[in-house]
Amino acid sequence: MSVARLIETFEPSKYQILLNLSNSKERIFTGKVIINGDIKNDNFFNLHSKALDIDFIKVNNINCEYKEKSEDEISIFSNRDNKFDTVSESTVEIGFKGKINDSMHGLYPCYYNDGEERKELLATQFESHHAREVFPCVDEPEAKAIFKLTILTNDNGEKVISNTKVEQETIIDGNIRKVEFEETPKMSTYLLALVVGDLHKKTKLTKSGVEVSTWATKVQSKDLLDFPLDIAVKVLDFYEEYFKEKFPLSKCDHVALPDFSSGAMENWGLITYRETAMLAGEKHSIADKRYVATVIAHETAHQWFGNLVTMKWWDDLWLNESFATMMEYYAVDNIHPEWNVWQDFAVNESIISLRRDAIDGVQAVRIPVHHPDEINTIFDGAIVYAKGARLMNMLREYIGDESFRNGLIEYFKKFKYQNTIGNDLWNELSIASGKDVKSFMSPWLEQPGYPVVKADKKGNILSIEQKQFFTSEHNDMNRKWPIYIASNIKELPEVFNNSYLEVETGEQLVRLNQKNVSHFIANYKGSLRSELLKNISSQDVVSRLQFLQEQSLLAKAGEISSSEHIATLNEYRNEESLNVWEMMSLLLNELKIFVDKDTLEEAKIRLFVAKLSSNLFKKLGVAEKENDSDEDIQLRPLILANMVFARNEKALNDIRAIYNNAKNIEDINAEIRSVVLSSKVRNDEDDELISNLLEIYKTTNSVDLKDDIRGALTSTTKEETIKMLLTIVMDENIVRAQDIASWFVHLLRNRYAQKTTWKWLKDNWVWLENKFDGDKSYDDFPRYAGAILNSEELLKEYSQFFAPMKQMPSLARAIEMGERDIEARVKLIKRDKQAVLEELNKIV
Ligand code: BES
Ligand code: ZN
Repeated sequence: MSVARLIETFEPSKYQILLNLSNSKERIFTGKVIINGDIKNDNFFNLHSKALDIDFIKVNNINCEYKEKSEDEISIFSNRDNKFDTVSESTVEIGFKGKINDSMHGLYPCYYNDGEERKELLATQFESHHAREVFPCVDEPEAKAIFKLTILTNDNGEKVISNTKVEQETIIDGNIRKVEFEETPKMSTYLLALVVGDLHKKTKLTKSGVEVSTWATKVQSKDLLDFPLDIAVKVLDFYEEYFKEKFPLSKCDHVALPDFSSGAMENWGLITYRETAMLAGEKHSIADKRYVATVIAHETAHQWFGNLVTMKWWDDLWLNESFATMMEYYAVDNIHPEWNVWQDFAVNESIISLRRDAIDGVQAVRIPVHHPDEINTIFDGAIVYAKGARLMNMLREYIGDESFRNGLIEYFKKFKYQNTIGNDLWNELSIASGKDVKSFMSPWLEQPGYPVVKADKKGNILSIEQKQFFTSEHNDMNRKWPIYIASNIKELPEVFNNSYLEVETGEQLVRLNQKNVSHFIANYKGSLRSELLKNISSQDVVSRLQFLQEQSLLAKAGEISSSEHIATLNEYRNEESLNVWEMMSLLLNELKIFVDKDTLEEAKIRLFVAKLSSNLFKKLGVAEKENDSDEDIQLRPLILANMVFARNEKALNDIRAIYNNAKNIEDINAEIRSVVLSSKVRNDEDDELISNLLEIYKTTNSVDLKDDIRGALTSTTKEETIKMLLTIVMDENIVRAQDIASWFVHLLRNRYAQKTTWKWLKDNWVWLENKFDGDKSYDDFPRYAGAILNSEELLKEYSQFFAPMKQMPSLARAIEMGERDIEARVKLIKRDKQAVLEELNKIV
């Protein structure tokens, strides 16, 4: 399938758009657009237009015939006597009407409650190709133009915000407000945005005088706007200095929206967010604040990388997203070095990409996109974001910070207000570094998967060997990569290009991929492994967590037995680092799949978890202490959750006391609130508890509290509660569409709820399809199920159920990958179960 590029028939330079939203309550709007641009052919040209009613089209003031060419294109024809002018610029004028619906793209309403009153606001989401649902245009990233927007709304005091500042505001016809915005810079249609609603804000200037504001609905306390504002100002300052390129607009707004399909969107000068991704205040957990900071850093990076310079076509979307994901860490690390966010990078982006990228059938980072509809299908966050970010970071390490930055500065200077392909960036980075960036990066971007490097030592001969790493059934294509080896062994080359290599070395401990900067895993053999494990507690944080990551993956591939995890974890018994503990929890969770619930073996795992966690539990306790470090504060809920899993009486009682002493749930310290509530539901569930939690879920506007309650409710072990929850998930007055997938994963992960939840998915697929078809999170459902289900029987059911959906391009890959994922898990259990149980039985 391929789609004609409309820019080949018409190249716009400026849009003057008038939208009348004064009847938005009736779910309709009207509009007029005047487009200046070059018509390429004197007979006809095409524009994107989807679900719009066209009233008239004039070209250079002459009425023209037009017809709907497809669901989202119209063709406009010249008269026999009046051929289109293909020499000088033309003016196209179109009158149209449109509808507003709850799809969360195009122009859509967001709902929220203010006490008893149900309120709404209007927002837009145009990426990747939804501008065409609001006005006729050439809706392609390459068709950059200037936009001059005018909005008509009711004169009711609501705020009207767009990419640029308001130029003029007047009242017409007594009660209609006309808001005219300044012209935008030359930019792509997908970055245009508008928000209309009863909002409040906080504002601050950057060093260079850009007016930065954070906005939310008035039911959100204004205090929640300070933290994001502080970060937003600092990251903007940082990028202006780092890229040596001024932010071209005079203001940048950040708005938290009650209904939002993805996490956040980088519209130029008007960045929009899901509320949980932007709002954070004094009472929010440290983890919430860090998350908010990284999201803001991500979207602000796009203001340059994506907005100022834009990919030519969607097949280079990865370039936008990989870069912005890497910059999240780079920018936040600069603002808050004490947060050590590169350690988070080594945990988050690594494990998610390394796991996904080891399943055969995974996509490469860069894959062709013919139609924008296909974007939804390439949207594998583990690859396009996480792996891509790791590759960008690897490149930065390989060519060095300074060359990386100098290359970027040149790139922005040369290509601002234009479009690029990946090679344009590689060229600038090559010039800046003197290294051949393209040949280094291409194998990583164009090939799926990654290598495992086996390291062995016989006498003083160290050998390394690369092979593609798989955890699933696979077809080995003999792929090879130029591996940035990042070793402490100076006899090894900087880049390992071959299949096999031997070098003579001395006695030291061998480390590959130091700082976890490269996208491969090491498989240390024999004494290399045992020496490293013996000395693991003296290694740095990233090495410690990386070793666990590698062990987890190697076990999945059958290279080692999962039973070895127990001895490995034993070496970590004095561990106190949060990030390492996150990986330890992951390994512990991996052991849980080998035991059935409520068995003796499960009890042994509980014992093991208690043994590993109890020293820290003694040290940290449940309540926050005066001299707690940030790390202590974040480690506490993790250790507490372990002790709850271990059914430790003291932990359970301490938690009960916290719950009982709190006047209301909001008062429980946000750092431990989630564990406290989940533990209550898991261990002390009764009707009153559930109905209380549910009532708060329905009425509170505090989104972090809602997340914690969702976590708690989905921890239930009671069948009737599970059934009740699965009905409220479908009640749009209780659970927002944006949150359904998250409810689903939580329930599916809960061993007590898995069966019923899986059945729910099958029974309600048509409902889900109607709700999410066309949304980029549609394939999350088969993807999540594939990542969780773990028996032969469920594999069969999964395959049977999804077989007919395999024809759908939007689901095919997720389903195929899901099957392989479950199949690999089933095999792993078969392979290692006995050994794991034996090892567990040694625990007393
Ligand atoms: N530009 C994306 C959002 C997007 C991409 C919307 C493609 C529609 C189509 C935005 O910059 C983004 O990446 N958002 C992330 C959150 C981010 C912090 C990782 C998201 O929404 O998941
Ligand atoms: Zn992004």
